[in-house]
Amino acid sequence: MTGAERAAGGPERREAREKVAGRARYAAEYRPEGRLHGRPVPAVVARGRIASVDVSRALAVRGVVAVLTHENAPRLAAPQDPTLAVLRDDRVPHRGWYVALVVAETPEDAREGAAAVEVVYETEEHDVVLRPDHPGLYTPEEAYGGYPAVRERGDPGAALAAAPVLVEADYRLGALHNHPMEPHAATAEWRDGGLTLHDSTQGGNAVREVLAGMFGVHRRQVTVVAEHVGGGFGSKGTARPHAVLAAMAALHTGRPVTVALPRRDLAAVVGHRAPTLHRVRLGAGPDGVLTAVEHEVVTRTSRVREFVEQAAVPARVMYGCAHSRTAHRVVALDVPTPSWMRAPGEAPGMYALESAMDELASATGVDPVELRLRNDTDREPDSGRPFSSRGLAACLREGARRFGWEGRDPRPGVRRAGGVLTGTGVASATYPVLAAPSRASARAEPDGGFRVAVNATDIGTGARTVLAQIAAEALGVPPESVRMEIGSTALPAAPLAGGSAGTASWGWAVHRACTRLAERLAGAGGRVPPEGMAEDADTRGEADAEVPWARHAFGAVFAEVRADAVTGEVRLARLLGVFAAGRILNARTARAQFTGGMVMGAGMALTERSSIDVRFGDFTERDLAAYHVPVSADVPDVRAYWIEEEDPHLNPMGSKGIGEIGITGAPAAIGNALHHALGARLREPPFTPDKVL
Ligand code: MOS
Repeated sequence: MTGAERAAGGPERREAREKVAGRARYAAEYRPEGRLHGRPVPAVVARGRIASVDVSRALAVRGVVAVLTHENAPRLAAPQDPTLAVLRDDRVPHRGWYVALVVAETPEDAREGAAAVEVVYETEEHDVVLRPDHPGLYTPEEAYGGYPAVRERGDPGAALAAAPVLVEADYRLGALHNHPMEPHAATAEWRDGGLTLHDSTQGGNAVREVLAGMFGVHRRQVTVVAEHVGGGFGSKGTARPHAVLAAMAALHTGRPVTVALPRRDLAAVVGHRAPTLHRVRLGAGPDGVLTAVEHEVVTRTSRVREFVEQAAVPARVMYGCAHSRTAHRVVALDVPTPSWMRAPGEAPGMYALESAMDELASATGVDPVELRLRNDTDREPDSGRPFSSRGLAACLREGARRFGWEGRDPRPGVRRAGGVLTGTGVASATYPVLAAPSRASARAEPDGGFRVAVNATDIGTGARTVLAQIAAEALGVPPESVRMEIGSTALPAAPLAGGSAGTASWGWAVHRACTRLAERLAGAGGRVPPEGMAEDADTRGEADAEVPWARHAFGAVFAEVRADAVTGEVRLARLLGVFAAGRILNARTARAQFTGGMVMGAGMALTERSSIDVRFGDFTERDLAAYHVPVSADVPDVRAYWIEEEDPHLNPMGSKGIGEIGITGAPAAIGNALHHALGARLREPPFTPDKVL
């Protein structure tokens, strides 16, 4: 490590120079000979059928090579994921659904061609509005993640009725969009019956399975490469329509094709966080100790595929109490299909639960940090299993110390200077510890170097850097002697970068392969034979084994806000998080994950909003000019710390996931700080001036 690296707490990203020099290539930047460009045509009605398509004007546009529609597109096998069933039939299940693809010599030609495709629709009445009393609401079999939709323990109804203190509150969260820096893109090329796809994805192995199935070829004939990916936040966690369209168009034209989605298309075709309506009821004694927790969530999905944001699930994890009910209901509407967005479930669920905890603190007069400490537990309330480790209390205490919480005046609405009101707030954070089986290989080269391979995906997190560290530690060599190969299905198969499980899953296999190689090398007196020496690892049966512990990361987030009573503007003055996430493997990249999540949570609280246009049935905010992701000026002081946590029940590295927990505490911490500032409780983020005034 250089001095600067030591100061930052970890090696810098291996691809950092390539990226800042513009040499790192992303999916749309591969330029195979004869490459064409595909531009999809989104439907402009919210529900109906294609009555007719006229492509003659589009075909007359200079440079246009082909126009694919449901009438002439290659016939593929039906995908398991119905959001990928593009250009198969005349059905339009929501506005923005793709109805054609124009393929042309340049992106400009394709765009002009797409504008010239004439589609006549038969429209049907559409319904895109989620209401808490929607007659179509039903209880699904499961919420996302395989969680039971409804869980009940004890007698929550009676416990709530008997509770000396009752907090009952409704919170409403609108839809949100992932908006990664790099919009979704793929470059497809068929050669000798095999497909090579450069895709902007969080997991190439899953994309390979999907495409092999749809195109009826063996998985060995499909190679998916994702060398560099400009973010995903869940929206690239599964194969998306652009990949299918690129492969389809390349097959149809016999030439390589790039499909790079315009950002304004993303809102409808790559998923979003569904809106959620929350009713939280907390029963407690006068001392703030909980007797009952009830969290009911109403959400909506599309008519294409059921996805139920599991927002009541964190209430099954957080606080000890004997009586609880957590439930989800959902309705299918004529909207784009929701999907994963950073901490699906935990992000909206913890907003509601941690806001209600703040309301309980107000109702009982117990300090919000102390209230959470009083309700701490060493067993997961819902399952009764002991936590493998639970650092919540330590995070709350350490956060309070670093933030300067002590001596805080609890009275809301009293800190006014000029027209500006100031307040501070706190919220807990949590995210489950997940891992999936992975393979990896490690090879000792005769020149003294090591080659370590796994199809991990680096979506901007620093995955290849951290994996090289894990390999080097297991091998007992400096990281510089490890050549890390990731980002292709030609490498050992691996799960996606998602569920905050990438490093744990890939690192587990890397660690195993490298440990075995180190042992064999030691046995051989450290001598590498001329042909090299290799070890493969596969963590199936271990990384996915059932364990008797509840495994979660925890954290505490503190916020200070200033609200302008004249303009209604809320400025975030400080955001400070302390996390307990096992062993931190690289302080530099971990800090970026934590603070990145917290900033995304600040967006959820203050600026980000995707509203549905009721008449047209699609999202109104479709670009970064309208969908306000926080910029640096919005987050002047964001700090992340962690406590040292030793947990032997995780994986060989002792790490918990860190990609998602950062977003889970920040929104409620900011909302609670805003209540402390204003003296009024707002329950519908984002807290924009119109709501504050
Ligand atoms: Mo993340 S929403 O698990 O990619």
